[in-house]
Formats: sequence, structure tokens, C-alpha cells
Amino acid sequence: MPKPKIYVTRKIAQEALDLISEKTEMEVWGGELPPPYETLREKAGTADGLLTLLTDRIDIPLLETAPRLKVISNLAVGYDNIEVTEATRRGIVIGNTPGVLTETTADLAFALLMAAARRIVEADNYTRQGRWRTWGPQTLLGQDIHGASLGIIGLGRIGVEMARRGRGFGMPILYYGPHRKSEALEKDLGAEYLADLKDLLSASDFISVHVPLTPSTEKLIGRAEFQLMKKTAVFINTARGGIVDQEALYEALSSGGIFAAGLDVTDVEPIPPDDPLLRLSNVIITPHIASASFRTRKKMALMAAENLLAGLRGELPPNCVNPEAFKNPTKDI
Ligand code: DGY
Repeated sequence: MPKPKIYVTRKIAQEALDLISEKTEMEVWGGELPPPYETLREKAGTADGLLTLLTDRIDIPLLETAPRLKVISNLAVGYDNIEVTEATRRGIVIGNTPGVLTETTADLAFALLMAAARRIVEADNYTRQGRWRTWGPQTLLGQDIHGASLGIIGLGRIGVEMARRGRGFGMPILYYGPHRKSEALEKDLGAEYLADLKDLLSASDFISVHVPLTPSTEKLIGRAEFQLMKKTAVFINTARGGIVDQEALYEALSSGGIFAAGLDVTDVEPIPPDDPLLRLSNVIITPHIASASFRTRKKMALMAAENLLAGLRGELPPNCVNPEAFKNPTKDI
């Protein structure tokens, strides 16, 4: 039986590519930038499996022209780049990489929180620009982190780890989400549930977003929400840019509506170099690197390879976002 055809949309950890190529006829897009949409669509047209990144748009027209496709393995925990409903309807299973990136992502979210509150990037620029002429009693003042309240929007895996980091700094934890978590978890984190997002926004000194991008979270944080925040608030987003109305964020930051922001994600990505946000000194923007540690990216790649191979074998991928698509098709490998 011929080996299944796989298209991998970027060079990932060699160990993962080795696992895939042993069992499949694999092609890897070698570019530094994602394959153009038309290329991806053409490759998907003859592929049994795709290993994709969050930069690859897997939409209905692509799925319509991919008759052999059984599995899409996304190298990310988020999968808002994929038309899940259509894939499910077509019996295509989708894998993602939860768990392995949780702590690494929370590390970066907390790093952004600290850097934005204490103006670390601005201070470093100040030093490099030769502006450090004396110890100034009013120079580069920021917000205290210890003891300040941390409001978490979405107490999932990453939200919980963010809360733990906050606890380490003596921060009271507030959280908002569709469901209240167990009493045991609340006790462990010292976290208080606020059923109304408005209450969390007005009570928190720091606000960090940890929900997936879905139709119900799109532009969840807009003008009205920023207006509820304290003028001293620091806003952190390491989830997805589309959760925030970026124009409203710009207004809040440039008018003193909030103190600062730390973003690892923007709407759109990459953020255009002429975006007004980039002219502000009270926002730090990193290029979607929250999971970017050597160890974590390798774990993500291996997990994505395992999801892909399981789907090709006709098994449910160990991390499958749409198990209802699983129809136990004929084994290929
Ligand atoms: C994800 O996994 O969804 C992150 O955004 C990238 O690691």
C-alpha cells in the first residue's frame, strides 16, 4: 500500500519530522514565511494529512478541494485558524498541542506583566539612548506588582498557571469565565470568582486574558471594557489578538485610560509597522512567542507528530479537538 501523503507547512523539530517521514511520504515547506494560501490549498488537494501552524488558514474552500484529507495536526493549542465545523462534517480529525506549553506561556504572560508594570523596555531604551544622567526620584515610576490584584479572564490551564505566578508575588487573584471552578482549585489559588466581567475589570490592578478566540470571545474587550478599568491598570494579552478591540486599546493607552499593556498577540499578525500602537511607549509587543522555548517547541512538535500519525492510522489523535469527526476510517499505515 502506498504511504500516506503528508504536507508540513514549516520546518519543525527534526525529531518530529523523522517520526513522520518514517511512516509517510512527507513534504515540508522550507520557507521562513508560511506557504502562500494557494500553495497550501494545492498541497492539501492531494494530502492525507497536514501538519499546520496557527499562521495557516484552513478554510472551507481549502477543505472542499482536499478529498483525501483525514487529519489536520495543528502545532498550537489554539485552532482558530481552522474551520472546525466543516472539517468535522467531512470526518477530518484535528489535533492540537495542549498541556506542554502551559507553563512556558504563563511564564511569558507574567514576564510581560512585570515588564509593562515596571517599564522595563522603556527603561532599557532610556539607558541606551544616554538619557540616564542621575538617580531621579521621579524617573520611570511604575506600578507595584506585589500585593496588587490580578484579574484573570479564563481560568483554564494557562490561566491557572498565571494565577500561581501571581500568588508567588502575593497578588490576590480574581477570575472570570463561563463557569465557576471547583472550590478546591479556588482554595489552592486563593482565587475569587466574579460572575460579571465588569466587576473583574473594575476591581483588578492587572488583567490578563487566557480564553480562546471563538465567536463569543471576539472583541470581548472593547471601549466599554477599557473604560471600566482603573487608570493604573496593566492589561496583558497572550491569547489571541482578535479578543481585543485594538483601536479601543490604543485609545485607552494613549489617553491615560489605563497605565500600560503587554501583548504577545495582535489583530492582525504580524502587526503592521505603521500601526499607531507601535508609537506608544506604554505598550510592549512581542511577536507571538509565548510558547517559544527550545524545550516546549520540541514537545509541541512531537505531540503534533503523534496526533498526525494517530489520525492516519485511523485512531483518535491523543489530543483531538473534534472527536465527533472520528469515524475510524481504514488504516493507511
Ligand atoms: C498556541 O499554541 O495557540 C499559541 O498561541 C502558540 O504556541
